[in-house]
Amino acid sequence: MSNGTRVGVGGSRWLGADVVAAAVRPVVTVLIVLGASTGAPGVVAAAQPAATDGAFTTDQAASGWSAYGAQCQECHGPGLEGLEAPPLSGVEFLNSWVGQTTDELFAYLRDEMPPGQAGTLSDQSYVDLVAYLLESNGAVPGARTLTADAGA
Ligand code: HEC
Repeated sequence: MSNGTRVGVGGSRWLGADVVAAAVRPVVTVLIVLGASTGAPGVVAAAQPAATDGAFTTDQAASGWSAYGAQCQECHGPGLEGLEAPPLSGVEFLNSWVGQTTDELFAYLRDEMPPGQAGTLSDQSYVDLVAYLLESNGAVPGARTLTADAGA
């Protein structure tokens, strides 16, 4: 029943109109798999649709939001709705990433984003961006701190 819990962070200061506008239909909630620390590909997307719930903190998502505003929104849109670049929330985004791990998403961001300036952010910032993207696609923050071991 995790499908109804997207954007479940009421009271968080950044949960403004932008994020709400980016909220996806519950049906597609969090199909991205939490990466194992070994980087082993997740194989449980369908079985554990909420695998990413609780896998990152609200602080991480907030930091990611901040980095996103500075580094990403000019192309991907302030509400992740997509401008010249693809949307980063909703069905289209989830279809791109279904079954992939947070490590893979992290590695993609670090290696590809922003275009022409890939890797210019700190690993911490990229991890925070992953947290923000997870949250924006329906995952619920929790007590655990997301880490990325991709390429470490
Ligand atoms: C200069 C414009 C630009 C900026 C700035 C930018 N991106 Fe992108 N981004 C793109 C383009 C264009 C693509 C599509 C690339 C492709 O299809 O090969 C993309 C693709 C992506 C994807 C994959 C989308 C999918 O559907 O799989 C993610 C995730 C992403 N960007 C995240 C980010 C993040 C996070 C930042 C900030 C650190 C960022 N981007 C900054 C232009 C940009």
